Amino acid sequence: MAETVLVTGGCGFIGTNFVRHMLEKYDHHIINLDKLTYAGDLENLQDIERDGRYTFVRGDIAVAADLERVFYRPIDVIVNFAAESHVDRSIIDPDTFIRTNINGTFNLLEMARKKKVKRFIQISTDEVYGSLGSHGAFREDTPLAPNSPYSASKTSADILAMAYFKTYGMPVLITRCSNNYGPYQFPEKLIPLMITNALADIELPVYGDGLNVRDWIHVKDHCAAIDLVLRKGEDGNIYNIGAGNEQTNIEIVRLVLEILGKPGSLIRFVKDRPGHDRRYAIDSGKITGSLGFRPSVDFAEGMRQTVQWYVENKGWWERIKTGAYLDYYEKMYGNR
Ligand code: NAD
Ligand code: DAU
Repeated sequence: MAETVLVTGGCGFIGTNFVRHMLEKYDHHIINLDKLTYAGDLENLQDIERDGRYTFVRGDIAVAADLERVFYRPIDVIVNFAAESHVDRSIIDPDTFIRTNINGTFNLLEMARKKKVKRFIQISTDEVYGSLGSHGAFREDTPLAPNSPYSASKTSADILAMAYFKTYGMPVLITRCSNNYGPYQFPEKLIPLMITNALADIELPVYGDGLNVRDWIHVKDHCAAIDLVLRKGEDGNIYNIGAGNEQTNIEIVRLVLEILGKPGSLIRFVKDRPGHDRRYAIDSGKITGSLGFRPSVDFAEGMRQTVQWYVENKGWWERIKTGAYLDYYEKMYGNR
């Protein structure tokens, strides 16, 4: 049966891919509530604006009145992607992270409780577990140990969400995914930043020694996993999501240069990120074992396609990399 799914943050990177995934696969009505911050781009979903199954509402999850405007109609499921998502920005300006990621999630949970929403999926992150040494991987029962204002705000939201399950019996589920890559990622994050800088022959700023490790998954696989959790997950459960693909940052940067045929001389090692987590690795045994999740995108192929997407969509990122983005870049990288 067709359901009404509220996707928050649907104009961002993962939200855009998820809205597309859902409309391709189901006949659900998707309502996309997005504040359109610097990271939200209406153009990402322009081609589906006329689809009768899709409604866009501009609004802020941290403003209760904005939620009232959405919840005048029945909503079956909430998938909460809306967040301030960039660790470096959270170091410079943590306020909005607290407001959106914590207060915003709280408002949504309250509204979901009042309206008796059937399912609430909180999109979280592996960063809530903190940093790993050279061995092991994050499991769902790994203690929470966030290190940045971003990850601390996401952890707070997770704890609140789980409290709503425990206290009110609300049907809350949490997903914690590792680093995503793919189309529509804002060019402040490692992979699109390196691709777009390399395309413009601008230096590629690698933090510290470049040996920090991230565990990469294609955004398509992340969306498929969320879809599985939505349909088959058990209330009150947390599901880690990953594709078992650890890479050092310098390996990623060299791969981007190799795909683009650009020289290694573009690489510049710069001052490290404060509190920089050394290594992330996800144990996705629970979601593979209990829900049958299998990532489908091969990393080498996924990276080639992603680089190609940025080559073919130069207008998209060139428009972003102007004005406020240039101020951000100067503030972030000017004195590094
Ligand atoms: P993004 O920054 O690309 O997009 C965030 C979206 O949320 C934007 O469209 C923005 O306009 C919107 N938004 C921000 N504040 C809002 C508010 N107050 N009200 C309504 N909308 C608001 O982020 P992303 O990379 O797509 O991440 C989406 C979610 O997935 C986040 O919750 C993030 O923590 C989580 N996550 C991201 C990754 C990753 O690698 N990118 C990995 C795991 C989890
Ligand atoms: O693990 C999931 C998380 O992945 C998500 O929760 C976050 O929303 C998402 O931003 C991402 O966080 P990271 O901090 O891991 O991603 P980022 O792309 O900012 O950085 C990836 C690695 O690359 C990290 O070790 C820092 C490094 N880096 C990043 C930038 C932007 C550089 O060396 N140079 C850079 O210019």
